[in-house]
Amino acid sequence: MGSRARWWLLPLALIILSGCAAETNLLRPRGPAAAEIATLWWFMFWVGLAIYILVIVLALIAAARGSQRRASDLPPRLNERMFVIVGGIAMPLVVLLATLIFTVITGRAVVAREGTAELQIEVIGYQFWWEVNYPQQGFTTANEIHVPVGEPVEFKIRSADVIHSLWVPELHGKLDLMPHADHYITIEASEPGVYRGLCAEFCGVQHAHMYFLVIAQPRDEWEAWVARQQQAAAEPATATTQRGLDIYFRAGCANCHAIRGVTESAITGAVGPDLTHLASRRTLGSGMIENVRGNLTQWVVNPHSIKSGVKMPAALLEPDDLEALIDYLESLE
Ligand code: CUA
Repeated sequence: MGSRARWWLLPLALIILSGCAAETNLLRPRGPAAAEIATLWWFMFWVGLAIYILVIVLALIAAARGSQRRASDLPPRLNERMFVIVGGIAMPLVVLLATLIFTVITGRAVVAREGTAELQIEVIGYQFWWEVNYPQQGFTTANEIHVPVGEPVEFKIRSADVIHSLWVPELHGKLDLMPHADHYITIEASEPGVYRGLCAEFCGVQHAHMYFLVIAQPRDEWEAWVARQQQAAAEPATATTQRGLDIYFRAGCANCHAIRGVTESAITGAVGPDLTHLASRRTLGSGMIENVRGNLTQWVVNPHSIKSGVKMPAALLEPDDLEALIDYLESLE
């Protein structure tokens, strides 16, 4: 191959390899279900590759023979029928049947068996974020799911509006969240880590930005996190944070966002994520941006500049009020 030909291959290779740099990787399984799915993926890949090579080789042989041959010395057509029977019927039948059997076996291995996991988590999909309930532990959070490592966890999932799909490629396959039915998926992480999850069913304008995190921790760390989440929100400790809490009510934040310990008496629908321990979470806007002061301020002032189409309206606040509100939200650890 000439050097000129190789040059244009380089950008092509880079484009292809850039797909491998993603934060999520189906082929880097970190849980038993994902391992089963990855094995099936590799089986299909190698079978597909073998068939592709076979077809290309046959095509090349045919092309080479065709060009050397004259019409007068064509070989007898005895083998053609056999070729069609083997290549066109028997081989596809064997390959597709083997793939079907492998798929069914994998599907059975990864299917959730209700009641086998000790820990149950409820996840409700919204346009465009995730409510996360821990019914056994008695608290609610959003967009960040903590699980103990090495233990199967039963996820009971449903949607509050349209169909979404929960997918953590390194831990499990996809499962749809339906508006009127509960679905179950058992997720287990075999290694501690932060695993990125996403919505895998088109659900509206911000479908592509509907992320969440699954954080797998050793049992004791997870229990410490649970104990923290079970507590009510921190009381305002300064005059500014007290003012921030007042703004939270006055500006209408409380209409959509619950804060345990302060909004029990308020009329709060689950319209937006629970903010009880907002400051303990890593991201804002359902995995959209890092949870740091500048981002939080921008999110409050104009969430649509970050994620157009979210239900949260922009808050029209005086600079002092805004600062106080952000101070208060940042105290919710
Ligand atoms: Cu929710 Cu796509």
